Amino acid sequence: MNWKVNSWKSYVGKQMPTYNDKEKLNKVTEELSKYPPLIFAGETRSLKKKIAEVQQGNAFYLQGGDCAESFQEFNPNTIRDTFKLLLQMSVVLTYATNSPVVKLGRIAGQFAKPRSSDIEEKNGEKLPSYRGDIINSYEFSKESRDPDPSRMITAYNHSASTLNLLRAFAQGGFASLTQLSKWNLDFAENFESMKKYSEISKKIQESIKFMNACGINETNTRELRETDFYTSHEALLLPYEEAFTRIDSTTGDWYNVSSHFLWVGDRTRDPDGAHIHYLSGIKNPLGLKVGPSTNIDELKKNIDILNPENEEGRLTLIVRMGAEKIKEAFPNLLKETNSLGKNLTWICDPMHGNTVSSNSGYKTRNTSNVLSEIKNFFEIHKSQGTIAGGVHLELTGLNVTECVGGPEDIKDENLGDRYHTFCDPRLNVNQSLELCFLLADLFSNGNLSR
Ligand code: PEP
Ligand code: CO
Repeated sequence: MNWKVNSWKSYVGKQMPTYNDKEKLNKVTEELSKYPPLIFAGETRSLKKKIAEVQQGNAFYLQGGDCAESFQEFNPNTIRDTFKLLLQMSVVLTYATNSPVVKLGRIAGQFAKPRSSDIEEKNGEKLPSYRGDIINSYEFSKESRDPDPSRMITAYNHSASTLNLLRAFAQGGFASLTQLSKWNLDFAENFESMKKYSEISKKIQESIKFMNACGINETNTRELRETDFYTSHEALLLPYEEAFTRIDSTTGDWYNVSSHFLWVGDRTRDPDGAHIHYLSGIKNPLGLKVGPSTNIDELKKNIDILNPENEEGRLTLIVRMGAEKIKEAFPNLLKETNSLGKNLTWICDPMHGNTVSSNSGYKTRNTSNVLSEIKNFFEIHKSQGTIAGGVHLELTGLNVTECVGGPEDIKDENLGDRYHTFCDPRLNVNQSLELCFLLADLFSNGNLSR
């Protein structure tokens, strides 16, 4: 195929801003192309191998984080709390599924957003929509909404320092299994549905003691003191992605070095469009959103373009149809896709097909629909004898009120209390953990299996 690092420019690129100041855009992208990579290509190859394990049913996939990271919420405590939440969730899921969890954050680069409308209207004034902090600013004014290329440099700097901290946490002792016992377990006492966490935590501590007695400890076993954590974001703003597309000196292949994993969104998955073309040329593991309007011909084309060598771990299909729609639209799609006999990993995004507008006017999601879509996803896989790999969630380690339901039973009228998201509503700490306990229960009583 005729792929070059900039050949995406000759394809139709949806959901990208038009920068008026082309000179500034070129200056910025030229500068970015000289900046150090955020990740090393070898790390993405390890991730690919781990995703291949998910495909075989030997590991569980947990991808999660903000819908949109923001410059304003950039803060070490927020990064720590979200990382900690993902680790706590993965401990519960490891326990529940008896398998390792592959951890992928929507973090350190998740700054560009597709929007359903190009225009936002407020009090009769029409302005371009907010498209994520890497493009324009959330504030509703003409100046803020103009796309500004220099925001890409800020996004890079934020991503670099976020990833630096994540690497320190993952390898510096914060993520050690014994550290678990020191984590604040307040939530476990406050809510009935969360009491399980203390139980699981106790069982893990007993196992650690047993392993120590057998001579396996944090000093001699890396897995007990460190964790592997990977980053991902939607590959939407192609001038930015191009600046970080480099040749790996070890293999001579092209890699995107701004993130370990990149995915293409539901609105930009046109097989003839710029986004799919761009992704076809890089070697990172990739994700493709599969929404309710996906048809088998389009999906087949995308699978061929994105995984021509039928590599294991290369392509993750992220199904996001909605709790009800998945029952009609997914079984046949899965069956037809299976008949291709390709290496594919399937995970469930139970967020984006379950977004509703609340009576109070907030964009929200109900945690019961989230759980129900996951259940349906697992059941459909089970009935066809295929592997349900895991979940893709929008969540935060902060105590926000953006989704209804959960252990605190957040109601429509509570949404305004701490509604902080810059884009889609996220599960908060307790809602995210409760979801894992509910899944753990379903696994342990045999109502869910893989
Ligand atoms: C997202 O993941 O934030 C998103 C916009 O999803 P989708 O492309 O599936 O709508
Ligand atoms: Co979103």
